[in-house]
Amino acid sequence: MGWTMEQYVIRGGFPLVGEVEISGAKNAALPIISAAIMTDETVTLENLPDVNDVNVLLDSIAGIGAYVERVDRHTVKINGSTIRDCSVEYEYIKKIRASYYLLGALLGKYNNASVPLPGGCNIGSRPIDQHLKGFRAIGVDIDIRHGIIEASCSMMKGSHIFMDLVSVGATINIMMAASRAFGKTTIENAAKEPHVVDVANFLNSMGANIKGAGTDVIRITGVPAFHGCTYSIVPDMIEAGTFMMAAAATRGDVIIKNVIPKHLEAISAKLTEIGCQIEESESDDSVRVMATKRLAKTHVKTQPYPGFPTDMQPQMSVVLALSQGTSIVTESIFENRFKYVDELARMGASIKVEGNTAIIDGIDTFTGARISSPDLRAGAALVIAGLQAEGFTIVDDIVYILRGYEDFDGKLRSLGAEIRRVSSEKEIEKFELEVG
Ligand code: EPZ
Repeated sequence: MGWTMEQYVIRGGFPLVGEVEISGAKNAALPIISAAIMTDETVTLENLPDVNDVNVLLDSIAGIGAYVERVDRHTVKINGSTIRDCSVEYEYIKKIRASYYLLGALLGKYNNASVPLPGGCNIGSRPIDQHLKGFRAIGVDIDIRHGIIEASCSMMKGSHIFMDLVSVGATINIMMAASRAFGKTTIENAAKEPHVVDVANFLNSMGANIKGAGTDVIRITGVPAFHGCTYSIVPDMIEAGTFMMAAAATRGDVIIKNVIPKHLEAISAKLTEIGCQIEESESDDSVRVMATKRLAKTHVKTQPYPGFPTDMQPQMSVVLALSQGTSIVTESIFENRFKYVDELARMGASIKVEGNTAIIDGIDTFTGARISSPDLRAGAALVIAGLQAEGFTIVDDIVYILRGYEDFDGKLRSLGAEIRRVSSEKEIEKFELEVG
């Protein structure tokens, strides 16, 4: 075979042991990069994760004229004063849906924006009706023509918005625009995720007046302009949770550093319930996960924060696929987030999906196989399965994983995993010979 898409090749069976540093949260970085253009002064962002989605979004704000300077791998300076165009090219939204945060940012600053409508994705149709409902509530005219959202208004005015459902993206997008609307806006039934709070804190550090982020009622008093600032992105709770699951699946002992343990409570509670030992450090910035025996079954239902995160559902299912007994996992946020189950079955898992529920009969061990990543978090979950499996696993289409995990294979290798990032059959054979 010729050159293929990049892959991971893994020799499983090694417990993960050691310490790993968590990067900044992708899902906070994306809206914060968008919001950074809302001032004509310079914004310095620190602790940015070096992942593809962040790099694509930086390209897209440069594409509309913003000044973007990469200070180092995790630090960038942004200045929005040179923006000449409020329309975002389709090529960017096609690469990452989160370009739709530019709607809220450009509306907040220029009172107009045109952004292509994001399509669906592998985990569901993901409409943005709630985003548009919020913009209309503060006086924005929305017209969707030829797949483009044309948004404009003479002056945004604060309003009382009751979200029909809890939406991270809609809460953030509306918060960005309303932070510059005239008067007061209340967002009821708001999302409470840590990255929603991080965006509110960032906007406030530019001079916004936002209260209540992290609760289900956010109160915003619009201000006429923002100033520059320096801001450090919150640690990524999903990256941290992914490493917690990898420690559990491989019966390892891992200290996960640079985290906020409170953000991980739902994950820690579930792992403790099935038999892991979880220790939080005195300095309160790390968690230790130990799994010395076979884990037990449980029931998990994904919920908006502070419930069990949907972005941790595939990783949790991999751990439960190795547990003693039958577990139930219910996905209540997205309609199509079990695509990895067929790949996992090729490694020996016994899982039956009925609607939005997976019934998981635990097995002793996976066996290595050639599998492919259906999406970002499912890809990470399949890597975890490969780390536990007997023999070799080749994970195809890792481009999805590279969107949201910085140096995933490097961090796993530092914990004792036998994993390489390759892009040819020859390299796969070389790895298999090396670790034999
Ligand atoms: C964010 O997506 C995250 N992405 C997702 O993470 C995460 O799974 C999700 O929040 C839930 O936590 C980013 O932050 C870039 P939602 P978002 O709006 O904002 C429906 C990852 O792996 N909905 O909270 O799109 C929607 O279809 C990604 O990093 C509407 O119906 O999620 C879904 O069923 C995957 N209308 C539910 O609400 C709307 O207008 C929750 O979606 C908006 C959403």
